[in-house]
Amino acid sequence: MKSIAIMGASGHCKVVAEIALENGYDNIVFVDLNPTIDMLGEYPVADEDTDLENFINEKYDFIVGIGDAKIRRKVQEKLLSKGANVVTLIHPAAAIAYDVSIGTGTVIMAGAVVNPGTKIGDGCIINTCASVDHDNTIGDYVHISVGSHTAGTVAMGDNCWLGIGAVVSNNLSICADCTIGAGAVVVKNIIKPGTYIGVPARKID
Ligand SMILES: CC(C)(COP(=O)(O)OP(=O)(O)OC[C@H]1O[C@@H](n2cnc3c(N)ncnc32)[C@H](O)[C@@H]1OP(=O)(O)O)[C@@H](O)C(=O)NCCC(=O)NCCS
Repeated sequence: MKSIAIMGASGHCKVVAEIALENGYDNIVFVDLNPTIDMLGEYPVADEDTDLENFINEKYDFIVGIGDAKIRRKVQEKLLSKGANVVTLIHPAAAIAYDVSIGTGTVIMAGAVVNPGTKIGDGCIINTCASVDHDNTIGDYVHISVGSHTAGTVAMGDNCWLGIGAVVSNNLSICADCTIGAGAVVVKNIIKPGTYIGVPARKID
């Protein structure tokens, strides 16, 4: 039996579970803090406070299915500090170039494309049908949302969130802790953390 515990119990976790299934896991459990449900789809939801240590002792693999970057980082770091085996999950229908490096705890969804020369950090989400082109440097706990795209030689700092359908033009840097709104188009370097929306993207806070 191949067992995995998915931290969280949201809709995003169901997509992560699908990728786990595609990777041969046949025993899947969600683990949430103070869960309000017993089952999510076909799989049980366990209580982090009472059950986490058991799953670690029973040598489950782990992945964090939480969208918020800061919470995702906190939970992944907690797991690693307890000696849990945090894995990287890639859907078989993602196209990842031969020399791409991918950090611990990163999840790559179906239809995503990651092109040569790109480095992706720890705890990232490269979501459904997103593309990350050649020679990108993507920091830790970055979320490239569904259908968003980065062109060649883009750098994104830790904890950034590129919203659904957003685009980053080539040779640009985005500093850590930026949210790029749905549908935004980034055409200049971003050097201040904050939220950016629109075409071209502009800072709103
Ligand atoms: C950018 C974002 C984070 C801002 O959220 P927020 O801080 O709660 O902002 P609000 O919803 O209060 O919107 C503030 C203003 O910006 C506008 N706005 C918000 N997001 C926008 C966007 N993506 N593009 C254009 N305008 C946007 C709102 O219409 C509102 O305008 P108003 O003041 O004239 O009414 C959010 O709107 C967004 O785009 N999130 C991405 C969601 C996503 O990609 N989910 C997919 C996960 S896979």
